[in-house]
Amino acid sequence: MVKLGAVQETMLLTLHARATNGDETARRLVGSIDYDFSVFEREQGLTALFHVLRSESYDEWTRQFLAECPHGTVVELGAGLTTRADRLDNGTATWVFLDLPDAAEFRRTLLPDADRRHTVTASVLDPAWPGAITVPGPYLFLAEGLLVYFQPPEVRTVLSTIATSFPGSRIALDTYGAWIVARPRGPLRRMEAAMVWPCDDPREVERWDAGLTLRESRQLTRPVPRTLPRRRRLALHAVNALAPPRMINLRVSLYSC
Ligand SMILES: C[S@@+](CC[C@H](N)C(=O)[O-])C[C@H]1O[C@@H](n2cnc3c(N)ncnc32)[C@H](O)[C@@H]1O
Repeated sequence: MVKLGAVQETMLLTLHARATNGDETARRLVGSIDYDFSVFEREQGLTALFHVLRSESYDEWTRQFLAECPHGTVVELGAGLTTRADRLDNGTATWVFLDLPDAAEFRRTLLPDADRRHTVTASVLDPAWPGAITVPGPYLFLAEGLLVYFQPPEVRTVLSTIATSFPGSRIALDTYGAWIVARPRGPLRRMEAAMVWPCDDPREVERWDAGLTLRESRQLTRPVPRTLPRRRRLALHAVNALAPPRMINLRVSLYSC
């Protein structure tokens, strides 16, 4: 049975959500990992859908970056078992997957490094981590499902470290309003990891003077993508019609450094 730290274990939740959305590599990994995924199957519902929508925005910004910078470097912070490189690699970009020691080791066993794909062991809370990125830019940093587990001053430090160490780069991240952070839903209620960074407005991050400028921000549930299966589209329309805004204040945002 897989044994990972509390936040590290959440990588299995997002992996499972991608598997439900037809990601072949994610499906293969779910089938090969010794872990009880049944709790996610029973309880995922909207949580899985939100993870899928979140991942699709990250994919879109990654595609845009690779179209502009085909030889650029995509750095996935808190990479877990991200399968984005399998979906989007263009044959020339470099991919860096940074994660904590147990998570990075786990990733290497399941998704071994290859030409242009490097797993890096580091904590983004260690100010020395930029030194571990030895491949050249331009860089797109992705912090998918990572920062909500950090205290606000830690988030601020991570972001200003990126802005200072990698000027000219972009970073995508996701945020959750205070109402959501105080009331974890679905499988997260049963996991040890706690969400601790509430962010009601992604412009807040600009006001920290961490060196970031907001380029684009999207609310996850709107507009409802036509590409979703009908059942998921209907669920999302119902959520948008019935849920008070504070309950669906889930966003993905892209910043320039
Ligand atoms: C919810 S998972 C997201 C994984 C992946 N980004 C995805 O979307 O599937 C959170 C990830 O953040 C990683 N993480 C937590 N704290 C970290 C830290 N201080 N430095 C680097 N990674 C960290 C965990 O190990 C885990 O892989």
